[in-house]
Amino acid sequence: MTTRTQARDGRPRPASGRTDDGALRLAGVGRSFGAVEALRDVSLEVPAGEVVAVVGPSGCGKSTLLELVCGLQRPDAGTVQAPRAVLMPQGDQLLPWLGALDNAALALRVGGDGRMTRQAARERARPVLAALGLDGFAAVRPAQLSGGMRQRVAFARTLLAGAPVLCLDEPFGALDAITRADAQAWLQDALEAEPRTVLLVTHDVEEAVLLADRIVVLSPRPGRVVADLPVALPHPRAATDPGVVALRQQALERLR
Ligand SMILES: Nc1ncnc2c1ncn2[C@@H]1O[C@H](COP(=O)(O)OP(=O)(O)OP(=O)(O)O)[C@@H](O)[C@H]1O
Ligand SMILES: [Mg+2]
Repeated sequence: MTTRTQARDGRPRPASGRTDDGALRLAGVGRSFGAVEALRDVSLEVPAGEVVAVVGPSGCGKSTLLELVCGLQRPDAGTVQAPRAVLMPQGDQLLPWLGALDNAALALRVGGDGRMTRQAARERARPVLAALGLDGFAAVRPAQLSGGMRQRVAFARTLLAGAPVLCLDEPFGALDAITRADAQAWLQDALEAEPRTVLLVTHDVEEAVLLADRIVVLSPRPGRVVADLPVALPHPRAATDPGVVALRQQALERLR
């Protein structure tokens, strides 16, 4: 039987697999939906612990890329090799009938590394919520939380899934500027406290420069890597730092 992930020489190769050094490797990845070609020939290598921002125009395949890394989709071409990766999807996707603590603890209750009892999951989730400034909100349901708080709960849930790779899809896209700056600060703190490999999809080039070790710019659909810019700036970074301003400009030029 042939598969669409077969190499040109006819030898089958895995469409996905685990890497043993914790790195994330995409080689020649393509993905189409019927006549719509979302991604073309995307190659990307992310060493363990690196934070990579992915920016690109709307519809260029950013969410598709994250889903491929998390194993929620398979590539039509090329290979994806990754350690276990968990997706924080676009939109907070919290369950409206659960409080903040149970929403965060959900990652421990379903699938993953063993199902915990509700009580055990709550005990594990409590300090993670507290570290994100939500200790007083354990029982509060999503509708009563601010947008920024909902994103913290969704992030807590993502962290608690315990995967070495976090795929964050526009985590702060719906937040106003002040809440967004605050969100960038707690994300930065959380990653400093417990480093993970991160793919951060964002429309905001400034956010990319403030948070990432590297910025990957995708072309309009079909998404291809058109720039791969290292961000060699010390933390904490401010939007007004000359280095931040210069890189932001450079990334914007590649986006155009
Ligand atoms: N399951 C699907 N079925 C059909 N088409 C899809 C599917 N998923 C994505 N697409 C199409 O593939 C393209 C890339 O979609 P994707 O959601 O990955 O883009 P994106 O860069 O995340 O966009 P946005 O910036 O709007 O979030 C789009 O044209 C989209 O309509
Ligand atoms: Mg998307």
